[in-house]
Amino acid sequence: MSGVTILGTGRHLPGEPVPNQALARVMDTSDEWIEARTGIKQRYFARDGQGPSDLAVEASKQAIDDAGLDASDIDYIIFATMTPDHFFPGSGPLLGAKLGISGVPALDIRQQCAAIPYALQLANALVQTDAAKTILLVGAEVHAGFMPWSDWNLVRSEAEGQASAEAYERANRHRGLAVVFGDGAAAMVLRQSQAPDGGFLGAELHSDGDAFDHLYVPGCGFRRIPYVTPEALLAEEHIPQMRGPSLLKKAVQTLSRTVKSLCETRGVSQDEIDCFIAHQANDRINRAVRDSLRIPPEKIPSNIARYGNTSAATIGILTDELRREGRIREGDLLCFLALGAGLNWGAALLRL
Ligand code: UT7
Repeated sequence: MSGVTILGTGRHLPGEPVPNQALARVMDTSDEWIEARTGIKQRYFARDGQGPSDLAVEASKQAIDDAGLDASDIDYIIFATMTPDHFFPGSGPLLGAKLGISGVPALDIRQQCAAIPYALQLANALVQTDAAKTILLVGAEVHAGFMPWSDWNLVRSEAEGQASAEAYERANRHRGLAVVFGDGAAAMVLRQSQAPDGGFLGAELHSDGDAFDHLYVPGCGFRRIPYVTPEALLAEEHIPQMRGPSLLKKAVQTLSRTVKSLCETRGVSQDEIDCFIAHQANDRINRAVRDSLRIPPEKIPSNIARYGNTSAATIGILTDELRREGRIREGDLLCFLALGAGLNWGAALLRL
């Protein structure tokens, strides 16, 4: 039985791009540092009142249209996000309502940046077991809510000047984290492939809770009563903490190892893979994976310069770009790979 394949894709980025130079108005950073250390040149941020389900609506409509379907054809929603509209319920049911398809089962998953390899395995299992026929898989994030500055008018270049010394110092404590993330949404419509041996071919997934403190939100959780306090906000515990350099090393080691192992298990030679669609956390990670696996540069595309790290949305945004530019086509063998908070990581193979 063939696995699920991608029938349509879409993406949505909110507002105007925010260049690196704008971030240097609110913290001690520079365009040169950010580009050299990450490959990022700009990112997008949602506005107050705009949640991931709102960004997802636009991406989903495009994906459904691209698949030549109607929203009423969707019979299952998988919504991947680490920044949901509300602490609960999840954003999946909200998206269903906004698309006019309330009643359809909607599942939120929390694998952060590693969402897509996990979600492809899950979608495939749902289709293989007749639980679903046409799945809308969405990754959408609004990280703006945890950015460490309040001077949004400076960041959005809607005012002149610099942040106050106090605000500057506060934001600066989180500058390693703040420069890498951006907002956005992507959607894929998935259905069983009609090609013999087409579609999803397998995934290798892992998690390691021992390393959860590599990237996590220290406060505002249900270990505390009440789960959010003014003190926690003053202590900036709602802002994620990230052990950047260690996470970077882990990503390089685990992703190379996982891709190798998946190819061996599935009897696929790495040379057969037409495109490695990698999560975009830092260009240095993907260059190191590329060198370690000896992947030709054109087979591991990068778009981090335009969007930064959009967590669960990243792989979908890149997949949509590649499809629309004709850089991936029917019949191509794709390898998706990603690592994110949890830690969660994995790789998946899919023949378009
Ligand atoms: O998607 C989920 C997974 N996420 C990741 O995989 C993220 C992986 N990590 C990274 O991308 C990188 O570790 C960062 C981009 C976060 C940081 O880059 P780095 O090269 O690892 O920098 P570092 O933290 O080792 O800091 C090097 C220097 C330090 O200064 P000193 O001590 O050498 O004087 C930092 O204080 O760079 C400084 N620094 C900055 N300077 C300007 C840290 N952040 C900044 C900044 N602007 N934004």
